[in-house]
Parts: sequence; C-alpha cells; structure tokens
Amino acid sequence: MSQNVKIVLDESHIPKAWYNVLADLPAPLPPPLHPGTGKPIGPDDLAPLFPMSLIQQEVSGERWIEIPDPVRAVYRQWRPTPLHRARSLEKALGTPAKIYYKYEGVSPTGSHKPNTAVPQAFFNKEAGIARIATETGAGQWGSSLAYAGAIFGLKIKVFMVKVSFEQKPYRKALMETYGADCVASPSAETEVGRQIRARFPGTTGSLGIAISEAVEVAATSKDTSYALGSVLNHVLLHQTVIGQEALEALAATGDYPDVVIGCTGGGSNFAGLVLPFLGEQLRGGRKVRIVACEPSACPSLTRGKYAYDFGDTGHLAPLVKMHTLGSEFVPPGFHAGGLRYHGMAPLVSHIQELGLMESRAYRQNACFEAGVTFARAEGIVPAPEATHAVRGAIDEALRCKDEGKGRTILFNLCGHGHFDMTAYQDYFAGKLEDRDLDEAALAESLAHLPGLAS
Ligand SMILES: Cc1ncc(COP(=O)(O)O)c(C=O)c1O
Repeated sequence: MSQNVKIVLDESHIPKAWYNVLADLPAPLPPPLHPGTGKPIGPDDLAPLFPMSLIQQEVSGERWIEIPDPVRAVYRQWRPTPLHRARSLEKALGTPAKIYYKYEGVSPTGSHKPNTAVPQAFFNKEAGIARIATETGAGQWGSSLAYAGAIFGLKIKVFMVKVSFEQKPYRKALMETYGADCVASPSAETEVGRQIRARFPGTTGSLGIAISEAVEVAATSKDTSYALGSVLNHVLLHQTVIGQEALEALAATGDYPDVVIGCTGGGSNFAGLVLPFLGEQLRGGRKVRIVACEPSACPSLTRGKYAYDFGDTGHLAPLVKMHTLGSEFVPPGFHAGGLRYHGMAPLVSHIQELGLMESRAYRQNACFEAGVTFARAEGIVPAPEATHAVRGAIDEALRCKDEGKGRTILFNLCGHGHFDMTAYQDYFAGKLEDRDLDEAALAESLAHLPGLAS
C-alpha cells in the first residue's frame, strides 16, 4: 500500500441512512419504564419531551433509517470525516500494529456531537418546536446543539455542569456566539436546581443534575422540548455515520480491524464507531473485538450494576436498564467532563451483557500521558475524553509489540482538546489526582437504586 496517512471519502459517500443494530441483535432491549408508575412507557409518554419523529426512531426495530436530505446537506460541512493511519504514532511506539483513527474533531464544534445535534434540531424544527433545553458536561454537546439551533432557527437553553462551566469559560462564549443561552448547573432557574443547591451547597454539579434541570424546563413549557447528547437509542443511531464511513474508508486500504476502541461517557461516540462493525459481525461477517474505555473515577461499565435506574438525579426522566453507579452519584471533578455520567447507554449496556464487547477503566494521568504521546506524534491534541480511547489503543499497540503481532487497531478520536488546555496545564504541573471510585461510596450510591425487578 502507499504511504498515505489519510483516507478522505468524497461528500457523495456521506451515508444515506443511519444503522440500527437492534435489528441484528440476538435479544431485544429491556423497555424503559415510567418514573412514576414503574410500568413500561409508550411513545405517548415521551411526547412532552421529544418530537414524535425522534420517539419513533427511539423505539424503531428497522435496520436502516433514512437520513433526511436537509440533514445530509448540513453534514456536508464536515463529513465524511477523515480516517487516519497513525504512522507517526506507530513509529514512536515501535509497534508492528497498524493503528487507524477516525477523526471527528474536524466538525465545526470540534467533536462527534453535531452528528446528532443537527438531526435533533431538524426534527424539532419540523415538529414546530421553538426552543430546546439541554444539559452539557464538557461543553461539546451544548456547543453542538447551539450550532444546530443557529442553522435551523431554534432557541437553545443549556445547563452546563458547574465544574466544567468554571473550567472552560470559552465553551460558554462559543455557545453564545451561536446564539444560545448557557447557565451553570445546578442553577437557581429550576425547582430541581434550587432543591439540589439547598441540599448540597457548593456541589460541583453532575450530568444527572443538569439533565433534570433541562427536563423540567421542557416538561413545563409548551414550546420547548428536551434533547440529550448521548445515552438514548436515537442519539447512538445518529452517530453510526462514523462507523459506516470507517468501514468504507478501510475497504480502500485492504485492512480490517481486529479491535475497535472508543471512550465511553454515555456511549454515543463509541456506539457510533463500533455498531456498524458489530452489525457486520452479527450478519455473518468478520468478528472484531470491541473495547470501551472509561474513567476509573466514573466506572459505570466496569463497576456499575446492571439494573433499572433513573437517567437523572431529579428522577424526572424515564427509568432505563443500564450499567449504573446510582442516579445520586456525583463523580469527583476530574478533567474529562463528558465522561461524568452515572450510567451507560442502555444499548451499550445490553451489548456488554450479551458478551459482545469488553470494557476497561483508566486513571486520568495515564490518559493524559497517552494524549501527550499522541499529540507529539500525530499533531492533534485529543479532548480529555478522547485520551481514554488513545490510552486503550496505545495499550493494544504495545501488547502487539510484546507479542510480536501485527494486529490492526481502529479507534475513535472523537474530539480535539483546544478548549481543554487548562487540563493539559494541570497535567504538566502534576496537579491531576488519580481517584478510583471508593467501594463504600459506590455501595452507598447503589443502595438508592429504585429496587425494581431486574
Ligand atoms: C469529546 C467528547 N468525547 C466523548 C464524550 C462522551 O460522550 P459519549 O460517550 O456519548 O460519546 C463527550 C461528551 O460530552 C465529549 O465531549
């Protein structure tokens, strides 16, 4: 093969449909339950929060769901994203492995999040919605929905987890540039925010709290719906453009991955890359190892319980069966703000339960070390979240070196870290703490699970 480092597909290769793995899985997903009654919910129960088109995607069993032309037109702004062969990193590591990464940081806001922000804004606009309320952890999702709102003429209200709000003031400025309104969460603007501030003064916030605030605003205002940047089936579905493009770009190289790796917060960038590969496998194609990399300070997949739990701290959102650390769990203020969610996407959790994937937890210093190695070889500074996938890929490549095996590794470089340089500064200054989740704190948090039949 040539010495190419990038495979860039033409815009005509932007996928025409999203891939729904539920059509190929050997067992159905446990249904979501109503937070009040504990009974399975139907589409109508979700109607106060989401437009019906997105609800239909959420519950669909169809293998392919067509991407509307106006969404594909916006995708053209940055899609297809490049598939890189990390030749410089391979050399720096001295590994016989081939390392590929799909680079989602070329999107307008610097991550994979616009892949779902754009269709979510489009379907809301089509349904006559004027405003969307949402949460954001790292600020990547809030910026992306703000961008999508600007395109489709929607007002966007963002509740940003307080610790990230303080660490990353330029994310708020970016959201405001797109015309959105962003406040620190917990805020004084919602009932749930005021209650949490009273119960836990000085709290650094969490995604679970910010979700409750956004859900409250959507549920109590007629012209406002809610949007989530991860976790839900339709969000993971929209992200499958990543894996579909990766499959097609890899075909041009003659390589096929032995292992596919992604970082997991709520599971969407990971699912977006791996599900099309898993689908190939489930339909009789080549088998791949699938590895999720999460922070050891918020280890839902590796240490959480697979059980029904609330998706948010205020218990306004539906109950879903997922790997959870408990909806009241507030992770310590580590730097990968987008990986601070107490649960995991029900779909990713289900796939792990079916034995179709593995997961690992990493400490943040090891992740930043990998991020710096990557930046010095490949030039791109990964987002703190993405450094977890970089760590996973480097470890696989070093294992290949130890074993003298030339395996092919593919990972998702889901975002750049240009708004996260304080985190890198803290890493260089030796200020980052490595905190594993304390066993007693986990047990205490899990003791508050709703106690439904699992
Ligand atoms: C760059 C980046 N990567 C990963 C994540 C985690 O989300 P998910 O697991 O849904 O991809 C986030 C979330 O904010 C993010 O901003």
